[in-house]
Amino acid sequence: MRRPLVAGNWKMNGSLESVRSLLDGIKRGIGDVKSAELAVCPPCVFIPEVQKLLSGSDIAWGGQDLSTESSGAFTGEISASMLNDFACKYVIVGHSERRSYHAESDQQVASKYAVARAAGLIPILCIGETLEEREAGTTNEIVARQLDAVIDLEGIDALANGVIAYEPVWAIGTGMTATPEQAQEVHAFIRGRVAAKSGSVAQGLRILYGGSMKPDNARELIGKPDIDGGLIGGASLKAEDFLGICTAAD
Ligand code: 13P
Repeated sequence: MRRPLVAGNWKMNGSLESVRSLLDGIKRGIGDVKSAELAVCPPCVFIPEVQKLLSGSDIAWGGQDLSTESSGAFTGEISASMLNDFACKYVIVGHSERRSYHAESDQQVASKYAVARAAGLIPILCIGETLEEREAGTTNEIVARQLDAVIDLEGIDALANGVIAYEPVWAIGTGMTATPEQAQEVHAFIRGRVAAKSGSVAQGLRILYGGSMKPDNARELIGKPDIDGGLIGGASLKAEDFLGICTAAD
């Protein structure tokens, strides 16, 4: 059995004050969450505060991105060891906002995935198609290409106990959630592609859905056999909504 994971991607939102009250709300409500694993990925400047507030709790935390480099003249970048200094468990790699606004290629994302793993972090690999790609019928081709970049660089074992987030770009922040059937179809495709190389890796791989997931659609989505949780944007900024998704994942 794969343990469901619900991770909040806070993106570039919040203040020190809002981080404190959000985590306070989540910690107060977490007693209702029985089996799902929870994580939050704050903007990096808030990670020390998040560590302070969540240490000793059952909630993990992580970064939203990392550099492929270990140190040096890379203004604005954050290394894997810096994330480790603040006890991050996870790091998101290849979010569609990084791919589109920062022109990250599949190969760069694969390198980030490899660097994160080598440092002992668990990368959450984001993949997904745009609306044009879906309408052109190339969804599987796109997610296969994004997935294969990691497998080609590192081999199939790179996905052992891994986490992938299928995030259709057209569903992110738009309120246009993929239907549970649409999402399940792609999740099954992803797992099948991994299973063709290793059945055991495919069995252990958690595939999260991301894109306008809310408390009222989470249960149906996560109820599908190949959907193992969610990567949540907007709804992770409200304790009640985030907890609503977490209890649905139970
Ligand atoms: P929304 O939940 O706001 O659609 O964002 C999803 C996402 O991009 C999570 O990484």
